[in-house]
Amino acid sequence: MHKKRVLSCIQPTGEIHIGNYFGAVRNWVTIQDQYSCVYGVVDLHAMTMPYSSKELRQNTLNMFADLIAAGLDPEKSILFIQSMVPQHTELTWIFSCVTSFGELSRMTQFKDKSDLLESGGKNAFISAGLFTYPVLQAADILIYKADFVPVGKDQEQHLELSRNIAVRFNNQFGDYFPEPKPLYTEVPKLMSLADPEKKMSKSLGDKHYIGLFEKEESIRKKVKSAVTDTGGQTGEAMSPGVSNLFAIIRACEKMKEYNALMQDYEKGILKYKDLKEVTADALVDLTGPLRKRREELRRDPEQIMQLVVRSSEKARDFAEKTLNDVRGLTGLIV
Ligand code: TRP
Repeated sequence: MHKKRVLSCIQPTGEIHIGNYFGAVRNWVTIQDQYSCVYGVVDLHAMTMPYSSKELRQNTLNMFADLIAAGLDPEKSILFIQSMVPQHTELTWIFSCVTSFGELSRMTQFKDKSDLLESGGKNAFISAGLFTYPVLQAADILIYKADFVPVGKDQEQHLELSRNIAVRFNNQFGDYFPEPKPLYTEVPKLMSLADPEKKMSKSLGDKHYIGLFEKEESIRKKVKSAVTDTGGQTGEAMSPGVSNLFAIIRACEKMKEYNALMQDYEKGILKYKDLKEVTADALVDLTGPLRKRREELRRDPEQIMQLVVRSSEKARDFAEKTLNDVRGLTGLIV
């Protein structure tokens, strides 16, 4: 049977944390057998905000290796680095001619990011790249004729734009691109350990998140100092810090421990020390094997480079076929 195609991408922004893992990457790993999957590390998107050229290259290669350590399999799925498939940028130009200035102006992520840059002072530089970012994203998706895109809420608007671009292209040049649909899965929303009212994010600082490949000692330390509450409030709603630890245990699929602790909580006899110990154990169990695989990969940068080259080549072959069709359909010389 012909498998439906899934595409998703991640920016090479340093380390993956458990929020990213449970929110996206774990799902990418699980659906590899069910769908024909294409996953990318989008370094060109990372250039739309101020960045360091020295770090970008290393972050991109590290992200590629970390995705493999986390369970993406280059034998099953196509993994690529965006800049190594230059067809994406060519398609971006063609798509930018079927995208209106008005619809790009309505993108809330552009507004948020340009506000953020402007809040930094009068000399804020807001690039045209930041503005056309969603057109490049549409090219990422449509160049592989993806049926589904696993996305979080924050990317819904961009995916909708990709669908509009596909429809407009098809109306103008003939039916060619499928309309990519969102693939929703149930994901836990993990909060910061130190400030559990906020979503877990690296930008809050080191004590707020747990890296997917963090050392055992450091995981235990962070969980131990996680913010909870003073305890003993039966009948009241569970405090965000406590609820976050429960969410982590559940995400790690330790349901027996989860249920036992929840019973204690309901009886008002839960000791947060126990809750934290189970949370830390669950995380250590889950991340230990991934960390080991990552250490092995990091020891062999040549092997990673080979995987990058081979895998991006597969993506390029695919993308070039699409682009050839597109050049013909749009009146360019083929
Ligand atoms: N904009 C996405 C993000 O910041 C990353 C991305 C780029 C993407 N191209 C994509 C996601 C294509 C899904 C499909 O998370």
